[in-house]
Amino acid sequence: MEVLVTGGAGYIGSHTCVELLNRGYDVVVVDNFSNSQNESLNRVQEITGRSFKIYNVDLLNREGLEEVFHKNSIEAVIHFAGFKSVNSSIKKPLSYYHNNVTGSIILFETMIKFNVKKIVFSSSATVYGLPKIVPITEEAPLRATNPYGRTKIIIEEMLKDLYAADSNWSIVILRYFNPVGAHKSGNLGEHPNKKPSNLMPYISRVALNKFDKLLIYGNDYPTKDGTGIRDYIHINDLSIGHLKALEKIETQNGVSIYNLGTGKGYSVLDIIKEFERSSGKKIPFKFTKRRPGDIPICYASVEKASQELNWIANKDIKSICEDEWRWQVNISN
Ligand code: WQD
Repeated sequence: MEVLVTGGAGYIGSHTCVELLNRGYDVVVVDNFSNSQNESLNRVQEITGRSFKIYNVDLLNREGLEEVFHKNSIEAVIHFAGFKSVNSSIKKPLSYYHNNVTGSIILFETMIKFNVKKIVFSSSATVYGLPKIVPITEEAPLRATNPYGRTKIIIEEMLKDLYAADSNWSIVILRYFNPVGAHKSGNLGEHPNKKPSNLMPYISRVALNKFDKLLIYGNDYPTKDGTGIRDYIHINDLSIGHLKALEKIETQNGVSIYNLGTGKGYSVLDIIKEFERSSGKKIPFKFTKRRPGDIPICYASVEKASQELNWIANKDIKSICEDEWRWQVNISN
């Protein structure tokens, strides 16, 4: 089965390509390389020993995207492509709506034109905003507090409306919690073009002395140690969750929504302690004020994915930090 992976050169996209190729799928990658490098795809090929097609095409380029569908026999799509920084979305909302929403509309219209109606969509726990109850279930109200999260809600709603208009669609929406870690080989991991704002890549760079310390955004949250709690899920567990979703859309029509998390919450101080243990490095830090838009606690209810996708996250925080550290040391050499 040939699968189009939009944003396939990105952090989650590239790891999912590894699992798809290892499972025998044929892969076609479309990426505009705005926040990724072709090098990641070379690494995917090295790890899997399999080649696949790559097109440097922006989803906003309708002709270019139609050309990709024309040249291939795409049967399903895994849609990762999109801007994903909360902070940037607050500063430049229209660029987020244009890139994420208009790009998705062009993708869906192109899929219809070529009669491709199977899709796994990369959504985010950010759609829940400030949760009233944790763990967060898929039935929790959607209350995004930033333009990035709102683009994800809009695209989810578009997909539900597509199915309401045409029951031939097979749609799985995956809401990620905090993707972290790297491939166990140490040859593939998060490698953004811009300075990282997320905790794990930042801690890694402190451990490598690229930054002198970590600023912990707030130690006055209503949590066990005052720092923010999140559900950190290993990128490999996350990638395998996409294959389970693909299996579902291969055989069933409809719209299904799943949280992809571990169901466990770790504080910033927990992560620092585990990373120090895994890397053998001290992580200097300083408490500072809360980051606008941050929430105190966020972790997933994972029953639905376990029951309906037969999927659970297996890797613990120790292997997350060990795999992340191996990758960071490798690319810094
Ligand atoms: C985690 C914790 C921070 C950096 C973001 C996006 C979300 C999703 C995942 C796309 C928080 C603290 C962080 C630092 C810190 N991405 N922190 N110092 O904010 O939970 O989620 O990435 O879908 O949409 O919002 O992840 O890694 O930025 O923060 O203290 O230098 O670490 O306050 O408690 P977040 P994060």
